[in-house]
Amino acid sequence: MEYRHLGRSGLIISEIAYGNWITHGSQVEEDAARLCVEAALDEGITCFDTADVYAGTRAEEVLGRALRGVRRESVEIFTKVYWPTGPGRNDRGLSRKHIMESAHASLRRLQTDYLDMYQAHRYDHGTPLEETLRAFDDLVRQGKVLYIGVSEWRAEEIAAALRIAADAGLDRIISNQPQYNMLWRVIESEVIPLCEKEGIGQIVWSPIAQGVLTGKYLPGGAPPAGSRATDPSGSSFIEGYLTDDILGRVQQLRPVADEAGLSMPQLAIAWVLQNPNVSAAIVGATRPEQVRENVRASGVRLDPELMRRIDEILGPVIERDPALTASPRRD
Ligand SMILES: NC(=O)c1ccc[n+]([C@@H]2O[C@H](COP(=O)([O-])OP(=O)(O)OC[C@H]3O[C@@H](n4cnc5c(N)ncnc54)[C@H](OP(=O)(O)O)[C@@H]3O)[C@@H](O)[C@H]2O)c1
Repeated sequence: MEYRHLGRSGLIISEIAYGNWITHGSQVEEDAARLCVEAALDEGITCFDTADVYAGTRAEEVLGRALRGVRRESVEIFTKVYWPTGPGRNDRGLSRKHIMESAHASLRRLQTDYLDMYQAHRYDHGTPLEETLRAFDDLVRQGKVLYIGVSEWRAEEIAAALRIAADAGLDRIISNQPQYNMLWRVIESEVIPLCEKEGIGQIVWSPIAQGVLTGKYLPGGAPPAGSRATDPSGSSFIEGYLTDDILGRVQQLRPVADEAGLSMPQLAIAWVLQNPNVSAAIVGATRPEQVRENVRASGVRLDPELMRRIDEILGPVIERDPALTASPRRD
């Protein structure tokens, strides 16, 4: 495993991180979740990503139990706040009230005294940005949170947060967590140039496009049993990728992966790691074998000619529109 600084910060994380969206507390049983975490630790993964909202808050509990007994200093625990965690009007968003309440609940569920990274899971159009940044800053000053970041924010939203933090002397965000993979490149034109300039690192989600870039979904075929596309909580998220055009083109990546001596998921993960602004690829897994296969993408260098062939094969199905980075608007 290779390790990278998270943006321009002093924090060093494994360039492959393990995330538990859809899996822990939901798609997979506790035993499988624990085995995946054990495999991750064994393979040198130190960075673990979750969120208060995953599996209705159960995912944090499962991760907390799976990491029990692990030396706290040897792992980086990342979680998030924004999406609803309860029925109340204040059980969501980035108000001071919800941030404080949700941070304390996450600490309890994760069984830890502090979070290495606390992320705003989306931009909250209903809360003044300064209120959010002050609440984050207070958590940092209290030692409950070490670093702050955002997820799926647009370039102008990130720029506004940096401006306010500088003007008010508040802690500055060090990372963004966007979706990024060979098929979904919407951060390349606006978010990445700003983040490169400002020293903000990307910790990217769905680097394998939720399993699609493994090539296991065939055009015109039924999804393999037990895969995310067959899971009641996962199928609606992966749906957009399951078109015959995308799946057909993904099959054409096989010879490219073979030539590079990589499996398809390894090629997909290695691809996102070629971008120097990417600090880590957060991979998900339902089985420990997937973790063990995926970590082999660490340290791989892909040559420019191979990168060009990937672009040529995927061509028209690559999504690049920066406007697709968007947070829900509150009326
Ligand atoms: N910030 C956000 O808004 C946001 C949103 C989504 C995710 N995330 C974060 O990013 C993490 C990763 O997202 P993701 O799970 O969509 O990432 P992903 O790595 O693209 O997809 C993971 C899924 O692909 C399948 N897979 C993985 N490795 C495989 C292999 N070697 N062979 C075959 N199938 C394999 C598994 O599903 P099956 O076995 O079920 O097919 C696995 O659960 C999440 O856990 C979360 O921490 C953040």
